[in-house]
Order: sequence, then structure tokens, then C-alpha cells
Amino acid sequence: MKNIIDLRSDTLTKPSDEMRMAMYEAEVGDDVYKEDPTVNRLEKFAAEILGKEAALYVPSGTMGNQISLNVLTKPGDEVICEKDAHIFQYESGSPAALSGIMLSLVDGVRGVFTPDQVEPLIRPVSAYYMARSRVIEIENTHNRAGGTINPIENIAAVSALGKKYNLYMHLDGARIWNASVATGISPAEYAKHFDSVSCCLSKGLGAPIGSLIAGTKDFIQEAYRVRKGWGGGMRQAGILAAAGLYALKNNIERLKEDHEKAETLAKKLAAIPGVSVDMESVQTNIVMFTQSKLSVEDFLSKCSENGLKLGTGKVGVIRAVTHMDVSLNEMTDAAHLIEKIMN
Ligand SMILES: Cc1ncc(COP(=O)(O)O)c(C=O)c1O
Repeated sequence: MKNIIDLRSDTLTKPSDEMRMAMYEAEVGDDVYKEDPTVNRLEKFAAEILGKEAALYVPSGTMGNQISLNVLTKPGDEVICEKDAHIFQYESGSPAALSGIMLSLVDGVRGVFTPDQVEPLIRPVSAYYMARSRVIEIENTHNRAGGTINPIENIAAVSALGKKYNLYMHLDGARIWNASVATGISPAEYAKHFDSVSCCLSKGLGAPIGSLIAGTKDFIQEAYRVRKGWGGGMRQAGILAAAGLYALKNNIERLKEDHEKAETLAKKLAAIPGVSVDMESVQTNIVMFTQSKLSVEDFLSKCSENGLKLGTGKVGVIRAVTHMDVSLNEMTDAAHLIEKIMN
């Protein structure tokens, strides 16, 4: 069978034998009764890593973000976020559909916006005829911008501004682990600037399912209620949580390898005539590039016919995401194939 190099997403990884063994051996109970020891252990461990009072296991990153926003807001409130934020682009309009909230968009550079850009968007408290500014959301790393890292000084400054205006801070940290290994800044150091954090186990960490939200005990108590109401209460979820626990304990450091693969691929692609890569945005495990030869659709089909699967980013942009189920050598193969297509 022909080897397929699948770079569409870091969510495509399959659980390793060791992870499957941890799942097999998981102690379970009914998590809706809070009686699943493995889920309880995962939540405790995640809260510790993120430096928060409590955490809650949820089925997906989308649910993690949307529960967090729901708990922090009331209908008619406004959340300030970057124009390419996942909560705006890729969560099926849920802020409106599930929480009745509006999003106010900031035009960031490589996914990063500054306090100067946010301040004019904060609505005066006295303006009863306007939406009420309630939350500032930051995505780190930023998916649609190409896995870019928000500098910690900038996060601290935006968070200080949020405090000044009594706004909550939410972190979409689906890939906070990637930011952490790339910078050496701990997840807790990032998380301390936020009231709520959502992070994923099912992306670069390789678990088959699951995300976590973290915050104060009161926040998590409310989140627990919303999760149940939205149908996210799971029963013997320890089988899945065991994979998440395994991922948190074993698969964070190795993300560095994925970053090395992305850098290698990006450099090789940048050297191909007709391919353009914004090298400054290649900071973790995502490579965004454009090419001048074919329409995006035809380019993706041509690659796919030859065993290389790629995805898309913004209009006209092709996305390659590295992960644990592809090797460094396969980056050379992928670049060779693209070079052939470009000739
Ligand atoms: C930045 C970001 N946030 C949230 C999500 C949502 O995660 P899920 O697919 O588990 O709903 C993703 C998924 O790719 C993401 O990249």
C-alpha cells in the first residue's frame, strides 16, 4: 500500500499502543455522578499544570470555548477577539446560537493584537444602548494565523487592560502546549493572565478525544452545569480521560519534534520557485503557504493523488500541520513531491 503523508491536521493522530494500554487499564465510574476516578485525576492534574483551582473535562475544544464564554457572559454581551479566531471562524456561529453574544473583531498581525487596538473597542459602561463589553479572548497558538505564538508580555498587557475595564479574559489554548514548549514558558505562566482557559488533548498531544477548561472553583461549578445542559456529561469517560492523562504526562515535550518538522518543511518549501511561505509565521507545528501554479483545489487534488494530504487556511492559503504520526524524513518527501508538481 502506498504510504500517505497526512498533514491536514494534528487531530488525525491515532492513539499509540501505550496510550491504548492506559485506556484499557483505566479505572472508571459514572462521571455525571463525579465518580469516575480517572476523569477526576485528569481534572486535578490539568488544574495543577494550568495553575488554576479546578478543571473540567469536555468532549471538544469547541465545547470548552463555548461553555467558557457562556459562563462568563449574558445574552447581549460582547466578546473581543481576533478576526481569525477559532471561536469566530470555525465554531459554527455558536457564540450567537448558544449564548446570544456578539463578537467584536480585532485585525491582528499574525493573530496577535495589542492593547492599543483593543482599548477603542471597549464600550463605555454608561452606553446602555450598546452591547456590553464582557470578555477579551486570545488564541495561543493561533491556528488560522499559522500556529503563531502570542508574546507573553503582550498577553500580560492585554490582560492588564482587561482588568482595568473589568473584563474577563478567556484563553483558547487548544495548542497552549505548543506555545509552551516553543518558548519555555509554562502553561501556568500563560494561564495566570486568564480567568478561563480551554485546552485540547486531541491535537498535538495525540489523545483521541477531549479537552479541558480550567478556572476558579466557582467558574468550573457553573461550567459543569452548562456542560450537562448541552449534553456533554459523559458516563464512564475514564476510558477516554486515561488517554488524556497519558498525553499530558508523556506527549508535551515531544511537540518540539513537530516544530522541527514544520521548520524543515517550511524551509524546503520556501526554496521551491513559485511557492511562498511567510517564515515569520512558522513558529510551532503549522506551515501556511501559497503557490502560483494551480488553483488551491487542483493543487490539493494533485498532492492527494500522489499520497500527500494537505488542508487549507485563509482563502488561497494551503495548510500543512505536523504531528506525531509523520516523520522528519517525510517532510523531505513532501517537499520533493510539491517541487515536482510545481515544475
Ligand atoms: C485554536 C483552536 N481552538 C479550538 C479548536 C476546537 O477544537 P475541537 O475540534 O476539539 O472542537 C481548534 C480545533 O482545531 C483550534 O484549532
